[in-house]
Amino acid sequence: MDIKALVSQMTLEEKAGLCSGLDSWHTKPVERLGVPSVMVSDGPHGLRKQDQKGDHLGINDSIKAVCMPAACATAASFDRELLGKLGERIGASCQHEEVAVVLGPAVNIKRSPLCGRNFEYFSEDPYLAGELSAAYINGVQSKDVGTSIKHFAANNQEHRRMSSSSNADERTLREIYLAPFETAVKKAQPWTVMCSYNRINGTYASENPWLLTEVLRGEWGFEGYVMSDWGAVSDRVAGVAAGLDLEMPSSGGVNDKKIVEAVRAGKLDEAVVDRACERILAINYRYLENAKPETPWDQEADHELSAQMAAECMVLLKNDGVLPLSKSDDIAFIGEFAEKPRFQGGGSSHINSFKTTSALDAAGELRVTYARGYDAAGDCATDEMIAEAVAAAKAAKAAVVFAGLPDSYESEGYDRTHMALPACQNRLIEAVAAANPNTVVVLHNGSPVEMPWLDQVKGVLEAYLGGQAAGLAAVRLLFGDANPCGHLPETFPKKLADNPSYLFYGGEGDEVDYREGVFVGYRYYDKKEMDVLFPFGYGLSYTTFACSNLRLSAEKITDRDTLTVTVTVKNTGSRAGKAVVQLYVGDKKSTVKRPVRELKGFEKVALAPGESRDVTFTLDKRAFAYWNAALHDWHVESGEFTVEAGQSSRDIEASATVTVESTVQPPHRYTLDSIFMDIMDDPRAMAALQPVLEGINSMFGAGGGGESEVAKAAISEEMALAMLRYMPLRAVISFGGGAVSPEQLEGLLRLING
Ligand code: GLC
Repeated sequence: MDIKALVSQMTLEEKAGLCSGLDSWHTKPVERLGVPSVMVSDGPHGLRKQDQKGDHLGINDSIKAVCMPAACATAASFDRELLGKLGERIGASCQHEEVAVVLGPAVNIKRSPLCGRNFEYFSEDPYLAGELSAAYINGVQSKDVGTSIKHFAANNQEHRRMSSSSNADERTLREIYLAPFETAVKKAQPWTVMCSYNRINGTYASENPWLLTEVLRGEWGFEGYVMSDWGAVSDRVAGVAAGLDLEMPSSGGVNDKKIVEAVRAGKLDEAVVDRACERILAINYRYLENAKPETPWDQEADHELSAQMAAECMVLLKNDGVLPLSKSDDIAFIGEFAEKPRFQGGGSSHINSFKTTSALDAAGELRVTYARGYDAAGDCATDEMIAEAVAAAKAAKAAVVFAGLPDSYESEGYDRTHMALPACQNRLIEAVAAANPNTVVVLHNGSPVEMPWLDQVKGVLEAYLGGQAAGLAAVRLLFGDANPCGHLPETFPKKLADNPSYLFYGGEGDEVDYREGVFVGYRYYDKKEMDVLFPFGYGLSYTTFACSNLRLSAEKITDRDTLTVTVTVKNTGSRAGKAVVQLYVGDKKSTVKRPVRELKGFEKVALAPGESRDVTFTLDKRAFAYWNAALHDWHVESGEFTVEAGQSSRDIEASATVTVESTVQPPHRYTLDSIFMDIMDDPRAMAALQPVLEGINSMFGAGGGGESEVAKAAISEEMALAMLRYMPLRAVISFGGGAVSPEQLEGLLRLING
């Protein structure tokens, strides 16, 4: 379709109309020119298509679909291939249901365990979130269906999400909150991007030219269209100009009219409206010209796939020899989630699952007894329920408590206020553990929880929100039909107050200050050398693995080179399993505050017992760089970097050091107020200072000299040098005793500035 020619035939009213939705889920047609409407639908882990009354919060029904594991779970797979496969299945369902764009993935960084939508997001780490979302997008779009990566950007809380301003410095935004979107755009070109509700440093994302045009398109090369989150538009005319192409949902013509008036009044260039229409239509026709409603959607097959994926995601956090369970033993399943598993979150991503397989369903002929233990919706456990659970536990070889966060504890639309499980569940777990030492807890939650009973139980399996077949996956893992291989995509802190955003999370009024900067998640806990309940990247298996023999393709590179890192991983246990080899990079000495280590690579490797394999990573400039706010660019400071491999951020098994030489010298203008330290640490500037340094040293007593014993006792050579280094250049006039004239000092400054 010749999009430009098509738009050139449209009236201004028709074009303005194209810039907003027809209703909750469709773009507008232009009947006069035969331009059809297309449909978009949630959500990231399954199709929420409302073919009757539409809403953006899951109030009205949607068609029967397959609820796959949510992002909190799939992120724990550390498996790009799994995310790609998930995307393909969701793309196929969209083709089958004639949906042009699926509204996902959701990649906002998990800044705090409190965010109500954490279940829908991947990680506290931008590299993991970016890599996995790119794989998902490529999977969906391989079916000629689009995605809408969201919520761009810095939408990290539900509290006041439609009015608050996420205030973060440039480096924090670039290194943490924008980074997953950048990776996805560069590696997968999502057909659309969904801007977030919130402001960023005071400007709504929906009318933020820096975000939507300068960065997204100008720097990253995004080619599709930007849609708003539902109801996120404040000033529609400013939005069009800023790069917000499509307002969703429909504003009933109110904002279309404002666009027309603004163009007519000369306040908005019609070419900008044309550009928005061209972007929207290019994506719509990209779908229309490849529409395949005959695409099969085998929901039963996807249900089984959902179970397989969930089993690859669940994280074994503790196993003191109690798992896997034996199928010939009497086992007690305790807790309502064994019968009615919590497998997804509330809000726009909520799927109308065509079926659910609970752990009890999956137990089938196994020798499993059941006790409800608690009332999830009622958030309570009567003494009778506890007593029944205790009796069941006593009569069994092992007891498995299916616990976690009820729907009311975490959802789109509001945040959590604490990290605790329901008190009734903690009470139940402790009672069961007291009754049976072989107690295992299976957790269903979208974000970290506290575990006061951890020392009292022998096993913990983090199931996250594992999709409609979560119960089947859990049973397969519990009884050893599958081997756990998930790893935590977020840190579980010991208590909420340990979290770096704790003092500021939620903000004051509409001001939300990201004062922890880049120190999010393990970046904070590692820098502070804090104990955590379970670290980022942690996960056990029914076998064991070892990483060793880390070697580098070079000991020294420049920031223009790539570095190849090879690590050997071995299955040192007695059964087949999958290891997640994680690669971390750290700057040993930098002029900015940097994390101890940052994830810059991961690979999931299936190994037979005793099998070894080499895993190779390629690191480029970005693996070593930080965002330099003076340069407004990524910059690598020359020096030594650690390259570490391990099975969690706290389990580093092999490391090496590489020297990186920067080819970019940030321009620096020194003045008479510049201190000697900065000049002396800058090789170029020091070359100009060197010839006169001895004379200057003697002015401040640095560098030794025949001082009296008294004088030497008063100020050591080291102290003198330290004082010199903190002295401003102008001090030479004050302490030089006239040896250096102002003109001479100005001359030296010119030399230093080259
Ligand atoms: C919601 C969500 C967004 C969703 C959209 C449509 O408010 O923030 O993720 O895709 O509206 O339901």
